[in-house]
Amino acid sequence: MRISVIGCGYLGAVHAACMAQLGHDVVGIDVDERKISALARSKAPFFEPGLDDLLTEVQNTGRLNFTTDIAAAAGAKVHFVCVGTPQKKGENAADLTYVDSAISALLNHLAPGDVVVGKSTVPVGTARRLSAQVKDTQFDADLVWNPEFLREGHAVADTLHPDRFVYGVDNGSEDHRAVAILDEVYSTPLSTGTPRLITDHPTAELVKTAANSFLATKISFINAMAELCEAAEADVTQLADAIGLDDRIGRKFLNAGIGFGGGCLPKDIRAFMARAGELGADQALTFLREVDAINMRRRTRVVELTRQLCDGSLLGKRITVLGAAFKPESDDVRDSPALSIAAQLQLQGAVVTVTDPKALENAARRFPELHYEADTDKAVRGADALLLLTEWEDYRSLDPYELRSLVASTTILDGRNVLDAAKWRAAGWVYRGLGRP
Ligand code: UGA
Repeated sequence: MRISVIGCGYLGAVHAACMAQLGHDVVGIDVDERKISALARSKAPFFEPGLDDLLTEVQNTGRLNFTTDIAAAAGAKVHFVCVGTPQKKGENAADLTYVDSAISALLNHLAPGDVVVGKSTVPVGTARRLSAQVKDTQFDADLVWNPEFLREGHAVADTLHPDRFVYGVDNGSEDHRAVAILDEVYSTPLSTGTPRLITDHPTAELVKTAANSFLATKISFINAMAELCEAAEADVTQLADAIGLDDRIGRKFLNAGIGFGGGCLPKDIRAFMARAGELGADQALTFLREVDAINMRRRTRVVELTRQLCDGSLLGKRITVLGAAFKPESDDVRDSPALSIAAQLQLQGAVVTVTDPKALENAARRFPELHYEADTDKAVRGADALLLLTEWEDYRSLDPYELRSLVASTTILDGRNVLDAAKWRAAGWVYRGLGRP
């Protein structure tokens, strides 16, 4: 199948490579020349485990090409729209500029029977509006909304072996002619039994925002429990283990800590609330305001705890922040709680050094005023307190005995509750977790 992928960011670059891996002929298209020239050299413009190798493997087969020319979409049968939908500046709503311009550029290159597949996360109602445009052309094309559920850091595996496929088609029916075409695209994962659900357009769009809202709610729920555990001197990690054993609840996404960040969960819950307001259903989602508030409170809580650990004053204290990315196995710093905490500490007079295995370049672009050091040993030297804020394996496996000689004060705040508290205390450290006694 000939496929075009419009938008080659985290979602599109991975999708293009994976579609080629499944045996299709793929062209990836993006307006950003820097991105395209990197991808054309089999170099992902961001860190994603396994992606560089996959790009090399599929580009060697000749089945994957990249270009900035949207005209290259002509001749493809299926066109995946994978552009970003960031939060609008100064508003909660999603900015659909990139989706709209991708679709209108694509319209000039569609042929009869083509299928345009929306993968971006959009406010409910967008697909119906865009579908009218796609059908309105002389080309008689179809629009399917096929949300993506990949996680950064696991993007290749999530794309090749997803939990499920959702196809939103205008009549919500299995008989829709686009269904068979998309089945052919995904024939390999479908043949291994991956469930696929056919819905109408708005349901497909809502599946994605509902899933991300549920995940955000789960994290804020356990972080609210962490607040309570702190007040009652209980341990939220044991609480999570215990309630997680009930398979109606499940242990995943119950890790209390500094909360969620990244380019998806925070902006998606806000865009969802904004859209609900437009639909006159804002009451249904007022709980997401609380989810957001609990999440943001984690960051201020860590700043306060750090102040306590530094004998009541941050002024001139040397703080080392371990981790800048919004989560491990990623160099993405969009709305990273770790960086936001580092910046707040700096504003309050601390001397902050940030280290991270992959995200320092992106972090320095976003917060140039912070001090960055790639080498962990150098970064922790002379520190009055260490803050583990992104749980990279490098930091989980730090040796508390070896580290003692490097720091000025053996104090650590474990913002992700991943260290063995007893082991660190036995090595003479003041250990502080979140929601743990
Ligand atoms: C999220 C969803 O998990 C994906 O299913 C979805 O496809 C994606 O958004 C998207 O909309 O594109 P992602 O942003 O890559 O994926 O990151 P997650 O793994 O969901 O983590 C989000 C944040 O929650 C991270 O900052 C992480 O540290 C935090 N988190 C996660 C916790 O604080 N506690 C947990 O128990 C789990």
